[in-house]
Amino acid sequence: MEPLLFELSHTDKSATSLPRLFGNLSRENLTIPELSEPEVVRHFTRLSQMNFSIDGNFYPLGSCTMKYNPRRNEAAAALPKWSQAHPFQSIQTLQGCLEVLYHLEQYLCFLTGFKGFTFQPMAGAHGEFMGLMLIKRYHESRGESVRNKVIVPDASHGTNPATAAALGWSIITIPTGKTGGVDVEALKKVVGADTAALMLTNPNTLGVFDENILEVTDIVHAAGGQCYYDGANANATVGRCRPADLGFDVAHLNLHKTFSTPHGGGGPGAGPVGVKEHLMPFLPAGRVQKSADGFVLSESTHQGLGRVHPAYGNAGVLLRAYAYSRSLGGPGFRRVSERAVLNANYLRKKLESVFVVPFNRVCQHEFVISLQRERKQFGVRALDVAKRLIDYGIHPPTIYFPLIVSECLMIEPTETESKRTLDHFVDTMLQIRNEMETAPELLHDAPHQTPVGRLDEAKAVKEPVLCACG
Ligand SMILES: Cc1ncc(COP(=O)(O)O)c(C=O)c1O
Repeated sequence: MEPLLFELSHTDKSATSLPRLFGNLSRENLTIPELSEPEVVRHFTRLSQMNFSIDGNFYPLGSCTMKYNPRRNEAAAALPKWSQAHPFQSIQTLQGCLEVLYHLEQYLCFLTGFKGFTFQPMAGAHGEFMGLMLIKRYHESRGESVRNKVIVPDASHGTNPATAAALGWSIITIPTGKTGGVDVEALKKVVGADTAALMLTNPNTLGVFDENILEVTDIVHAAGGQCYYDGANANATVGRCRPADLGFDVAHLNLHKTFSTPHGGGGPGAGPVGVKEHLMPFLPAGRVQKSADGFVLSESTHQGLGRVHPAYGNAGVLLRAYAYSRSLGGPGFRRVSERAVLNANYLRKKLESVFVVPFNRVCQHEFVISLQRERKQFGVRALDVAKRLIDYGIHPPTIYFPLIVSECLMIEPTETESKRTLDHFVDTMLQIRNEMETAPELLHDAPHQTPVGRLDEAKAVKEPVLCACG
């Protein structure tokens, strides 16, 4: 049978709006090919195969928790009664959806120790922004608007100081202590009557769980500040310890890391924000509540923040998190974090005799190695190793972050990877170490096996070439 041809030329009325969109394009000079359906399918399949993905390759991208996402969560998120519900439907016709959100909030409260969550923020950074706005409103409500300084460790994720700056607050950076946690003495020196908040990831971006965390949060509270927990690394702790018990007042969770949802490529995400009792009055309206008449949405209060997102938040991500929570249960979450920590420590122990591991102690879900020594010895940089790993079918770890470790590789294997995969990664790293001595040019020019080789990434961003049409 003749394959169906796609008629891609613009013969419809919408063509009249094209010049406005694309400048001087007319029907005559458009050269859109006519293609059969199999050709189109093959084209896009080929393109997708050129891409790196967690489904195709090991992806130990530190700070990103590139975990396997169970297919059942995808199936749940695609259910028409969820995916086709309209946000402006009357809530009487959305009772099942609201029930899911109600229970998801309860699960998150159970896992974190917080009193309530808002689902509005659509990413971790968005959650940070809302969390700091809640803290701001709290200080204002107590007549303490003078509090405008946010303390962040030098190992913090860039979104932390950036969020504080977006709110017009100033940032005080404190150093990392000898064992990889907050330098407590430095913290004591900077807290004061102008402290608005401390923002902290724990475990931090070095993969270190701060053993002084209770003292750290006490110091900030004693000065009248609030403690913000950046929950992006919660895959290491979920089911084992709760940020509220560590002294944090407010937190976001990256559902798109810890609670499944494919992460990467810029979205989609969800960064729900949880708070303790004293911050509850400031949460925005629209939280699901149970009433005698079924599930209803909370009203706005005079103290509450406005919305940062229309409707219910990023609903597909929320349903995946619900399905994930239901399938794991409390003990399942605990197993996830234990396994994530075990896998990271397995890699750390296997690599420590060959590579320098700064802050080399039991790590949590990730750890960093420094290639500063190799740079001096062989002229090989972290970037070169990252690119060479691609040739071996492994996605590069995060590089040059955190900023306090030079020539840094940040490795996060996640909980779902098998010992076989981890061993393959170790063997590959050892092989690459060998190449540094015997054939460093292999690393300088890597990758060799990809459709395009080493890119000048800065130039590509500044002067993108978006088509091959000359
Ligand atoms: C430690 C940490 N905090 C915050 C964020 C920001 O999260 P998002 O990318 O969802 O905005 C990330 C993201 O990778 C992170 O690793």
